[in-house]
Formats: sequence, structure tokens, C-alpha cells
Amino acid sequence: MEFSIKSGSPEKLRTGAIVVGVFESRKLSATAAALDAASKGRIADIVGSGDMEGKAGGTLLLHKLPGVAADRVLLVGLGREKDFGLKEFRDAVAASMRALKDTGAADAVVALAETAPRKLGVIGALRQAALIALDVSYRYEAPGQGRKAPDKTGLGALAFTLPKKTDAGKAESALAQGAAIGRGMSLTKTLGNLPANVCTPTYLAEQAVALGHSHGIAVTVLDRPELEELGMGSFLSVSDGSRQPPKFITMEYRGGKKSDAPIVLVGKGITFDTGGISLKPGEGMDEMKYDMCGAASVLGTFQALAEMKLPLNVVGLIPTTENMPGGKATRPGDVVKSMSGQTIEILNTDAEGRLILCDALTYAERYDPACVVDIATLTGACIIALGHVTSGLMANDDALADELLAAGQNAWDRAWRMPIWDDYQDQLKSNFADMGNIGGRPAGSITAACFLARFAKKYKWAHLDIAGTAWKSGKDKGGTGRPVPLLTHFLLDRAGKL
Ligand code: BES
Ligand code: MN
Ligand code: ZN
Repeated sequence: MEFSIKSGSPEKLRTGAIVVGVFESRKLSATAAALDAASKGRIADIVGSGDMEGKAGGTLLLHKLPGVAADRVLLVGLGREKDFGLKEFRDAVAASMRALKDTGAADAVVALAETAPRKLGVIGALRQAALIALDVSYRYEAPGQGRKAPDKTGLGALAFTLPKKTDAGKAESALAQGAAIGRGMSLTKTLGNLPANVCTPTYLAEQAVALGHSHGIAVTVLDRPELEELGMGSFLSVSDGSRQPPKFITMEYRGGKKSDAPIVLVGKGITFDTGGISLKPGEGMDEMKYDMCGAASVLGTFQALAEMKLPLNVVGLIPTTENMPGGKATRPGDVVKSMSGQTIEILNTDAEGRLILCDALTYAERYDPACVVDIATLTGACIIALGHVTSGLMANDDALADELLAAGQNAWDRAWRMPIWDDYQDQLKSNFADMGNIGGRPAGSITAACFLARFAKKYKWAHLDIAGTAWKSGKDKGGTGRPVPLLTHFLLDRAGKL
């Protein structure tokens, strides 16, 4: 989808559809009022008839309004003006995009930036609008896997009108940023949605290499012998039960000064989590193909980062493997040695995410990072605590935690912090190694993070548990692209580009 800025009298714009807002109850936005005047009161008439009260989420499609050059006018309800915030703005854009999907319009002009809530601002509103347009229009298309292409060609171009006094240059770059984030989310969704027989560790590594070539990112892939050499005994123990070879992907984006310490993003890349010998129950196990969504969000964020050409140095680390119950699989009770030298008694082979992440966290030390953020579909307990709305956030640094929380709030991809106080560390005690890999049922997300914290002592570190937010179950089953918006807003802010 192409994004652009359009200026000129709204009634004269030649386009498949023009989208204008109506507040509850029946208050026309500035552009809606202009179209109303041009059509000699037709919009006020229709609104007055009770067909469009301005309720949030409602839409009404009008054809060939006299005096208006656009083929269609889409009225979208904005709800009560005094309640109109970031969520309401997003919902209005999403509702417009869904309504346009069902029309034959090949392009549209959106006049909603003028109603941007104050906290978001026009520039923030444009960034969000572009991102949402791509989010709503996403379709899963697997390479070579079939699934019919849509009959309708859909919206190919979307233009936005600007309220007076908006800096056109900033508006253009906000649209470009939103589009880059939207495309990054779409890559993340597709990698998550691909079945595990296609999206193997090798496939993920190939995708990373391809992204590196197309976007100027230095990518290297380490194989088992090199990982053995590095002493990644914890990571490798997870892959022992699988026929698929493990891969350790490193990505280096160098947009900053040579001397700038890099931000390191670490993504959990379990391409399928059966639980291993501690086998998971069968129901819904297909969804464990999404257990590489942390890795996918790192790839999506890197794509966006490179497209936005942010002046930062960012490193991506992806340990990727399957967790399978093969003949060489780890048994409960086995003790493994991590790259850090600390030993781990594996009490449950289904707590494998932390086992692959801990070695990646140790590997991260060599970059002398400004900070490290890991992203993982780590615990079912996080879904119990926060549901599917909010990602869990744990950190050993308050300022970093606050930055990430704010990024999530700005992007509407929110996280909530949980404590990792030392008191919880007792739950990881083992009689046979430095630690066990599970901490029992109480505070399952916290003890998982406490495990990781033992490997992240040398730098500022935060952990995002995205088990509840990375994908949706049920009839809309699929990847969500989260937390790419949070991560990209965090990076935009660090780059001074927000
Ligand atoms: N990948 C799962 C976590 C998960 C579960 C994500 C459900 C999304 C939905 C992780 O590897 C896992 O199995 N965690 C265990 C940990 C337990 C054995 C301590 C869990 O949450 O049950
Ligand atoms: Mn597991
Ligand atoms: Zn897992």
C-alpha cells in the first residue's frame, strides 16, 4: 500500500473514497462539514435522519454525493469528543479500513488526522494510521503453500489530509515510519503463522540472511559445532531431541556512530514446542508453532529499523531450535552447563525458552551493550496474569523499564511491569546444580524472569513475556505482530525520531 499526503479542497479530491469523522452526537468534523457544505447539506441531512449518530466504531458509506468529486464518502463514528483518545482514534481508523475493504475503492483519502487527540498529535496520528491500515489489510500468504489470493484487489493507495500548520516534511516521515512498522509487523505475523514444517530453525536463519541482504544488515549464522565451541550447553540441550539442526542467528545493524554502544534484542526462536519429554497435552498444541514469535518480532523490528534508517547500532540475537521428544532428548533430572558456567538441573523440559535464552544473554556480553531486551513467548502463567491485552515486563533497571513501558503506551502495544525481587530466587534452588529450570506454580512468569536475570547481571536488561500478546486463538487465530510497535517506538525514541 502506498501512503501520501493530499492537500486541496476536500470536495474536489478525485478518489475512490474520502473518510471523514462524525462525533457523538452528530457533530461533523471539519472536513465532514466542508463536504456537507459542498453537497448542500446532504451529510447533515443523513446524520439528522439517525443513520449515523457518531457512535464509536459505526460507519456509513455514501455514494456519489452531489458537489463532491470522490466516488464515495465514508462517515466514521468517533464517539464522544471529550473521550476521544489514542485508543478511540485507532479504533476509528481500523473501522474505516475494515469498511473500505468491503468496497470496490482502489484508493482513498483519510481526513482523520484533524481529529487527532491532543496527546497523540497529528504526527503521531499519521504514524498510527499508516501502521493500522497495514495491520488491518494483512493477509496470510504462505510461499508455495496455496491459500487463494483475494478476489478484490483492495486498497492500493491511501492519502491523508493535513490540518493547517502541520509540518508536511514531518508528516511524510511519520507516514513512512508507520508504513515501515506495519510492514515489520506483517513479516512477524507471517513467520509466526507459517507451519513448523516450513518455518524451521534453518528457514528462520535463511530469512534473516535474506533480510540482511535486502536491508544492509550484517547477518551470521552459527551452527552446532561453533555453539559447542562456545559452550552453549543449555541451548544445545533443548535441540538434542530434534532432527532439525539448531541455529544461532546474529544480526548487526550499524546506523549509529562506531563508538555508540549497541542495543541488543534477543528473541526466543522455538519453531515448535512439544514440551519435549515433559510432553504438552495434545489440545491446541498446533499453537506452539508460534513459540518463535519473539524471534519473529526481532526480525520484524530489524526490517522496520533498517527501512527507517535509524541512527542507532542494534544487534539482534536469535537462538532457534525445536523442542522435541526424540531419542536423544534431555530427560527431567539431567544437568547441563550453560555458556556462563552456571549449571542447570532440567526439572521440566517444557521450560525450554529460558534454556535457550540464557546462553544468548551470555553471548550478548561481548557487545558491551547499552542495554539488552529479550522477547519471548515464555510462560503460560503470563497469560493467566495479564491475559491477551498486555505483555509482561521485567527488568533489572528502572529507567529502562520506564522507557519500554512508555514506548508500549505510545504505540498502544502495552506492557506491565512485574517484580523480580531476590525473594523469588529461592524457588529456583536445586540440590544437584546451581539452579533448577522451574520455580513451581506460584509466580511462574516472575521465576522464569528471575532465572534469566542470573545471566543478565553485566548490563541493563529487560524481558518481555509475550505469551499472551503475540498471537490470537479462536476464529481469528493468527500472529498479531506484537511487540513490534513497542520495540520500534522504543528505538524511535532512543534515536530522537519520535
Ligand atoms: N512456550 C511455552 C509458554 C507458552 C504456553 C506460551 C502457552 C504461550 C501459550 C513455554 O515454553 C512453556 O512451556 N512454559 C511452561 C513453563 C513451565 C513448565 C514452568 C508453562 O508456561 O507451562
Ligand atoms: Mn515449553
Ligand atoms: Zn516454549
